[in-house]
Amino acid sequence: MAVVTPPPALRTPLCDHLGCAFPILLAGMGGVARHRLAAAVCRAGGFGVLGMVREPVERISAEVDALRRLTDKPFAINLIPAATENAQLHQQVRTCLTLQVPFVVLFWDVDTALVRHLVSEGIRVIHQVGSTWDAELAIDAGAEIIIAQGWEAGGHVRGHIGTLSLLAELVPACPVPVVASGGLANGRSLVAALALGAQGASLGSAFLATEEANAHAHHQQRLIQARADDTVHCRHFSRNWHEPAPVRVLRNRVTRGEYDDLRHADISEIIGEQDGQPVYLFSTDSPLADARGELDDMALYAGQSCGQLHQILTAEQRLNRIIEEAAETLTRLTGNP
Ligand SMILES: Cc1cc2nc3c(=O)[nH]c(=O)nc-3n(C[C@H](O)[C@H](O)[C@H](O)COP(=O)(O)O)c2cc1C
Repeated sequence: MAVVTPPPALRTPLCDHLGCAFPILLAGMGGVARHRLAAAVCRAGGFGVLGMVREPVERISAEVDALRRLTDKPFAINLIPAATENAQLHQQVRTCLTLQVPFVVLFWDVDTALVRHLVSEGIRVIHQVGSTWDAELAIDAGAEIIIAQGWEAGGHVRGHIGTLSLLAELVPACPVPVVASGGLANGRSLVAALALGAQGASLGSAFLATEEANAHAHHQQRLIQARADDTVHCRHFSRNWHEPAPVRVLRNRVTRGEYDDLRHADISEIIGEQDGQPVYLFSTDSPLADARGELDDMALYAGQSCGQLHQILTAEQRLNRIIEEAAETLTRLTGNP
């Protein structure tokens, strides 16, 4: 697979840090970002991340083995400590150490003891945050790259600040590379993030709308038909999460409140199944490729970036289009690619 040569302005120091050609990361998306997508991103010049939140260690090992069979590029495992039972989290961390995973991407509350432990064991830590405060905690503990997630982001949304304002505040205060996330899905938005001092972008929705994503076609179709205003920031999907955390999803019957009378019911209503497991109403599970049931009532995560997405592409096509458009944008703005 031929990787296109990016113009020098797009070859930020982050690329050397991560060992990739383009300053573009696959966001760690639980269930959606498995080895097929992560490998496709790595092979096309980006940085692959396996979304392994709450996954059993057998799956983590199998996914890492499968990824390593497809690429020898560096990659990361994404974990969410706060949303994972302690015993399972310890097993996951032990597995990452045994597998000598090069990077881990952490999200939500900053678990400073865990960051220190990973770093002391030689695992490089990237932390996604929604505020300068959390970035400082993560950096003090040893995180070497910060992903600044803005309020526009799809999935769980940590902070209250838009990507633009967060970058403008965070970058000057940050001694480590900052990666932008939320609201970015094309080359122009990548250049905007770079203009604010980010060294790259971490993309969720843009890679959800690819052939290699393990997302259900219904979710992908709704995503590419949506505009930013079709997403909503709400707390409806929290059944298997440790707190009723805010998420950004596409509007559906759940967000419109049509099931609100069931929200505090003792019995969990099963609305489908996937991966051999039931999917419950109000759960944080988004519909995966093999999902069956009431797909539109599941958590259809989407960032406001959905308005920039119009087609399902391969991950390689998505990356190349973003890089080509970013190069054109730089030429338009400066006359110098
Ligand atoms: C389908 C989906 C699942 C996500 N799951 C996770 C996850 O498991 N762990 C995580 O750190 N972030 C997760 N996120 C958030 C992303 O890391 C990222 O912040 C977000 O996708 C950025 O916004 P964008 O979708 O506009 O690119 C998810 C996002 C989406 C769209």
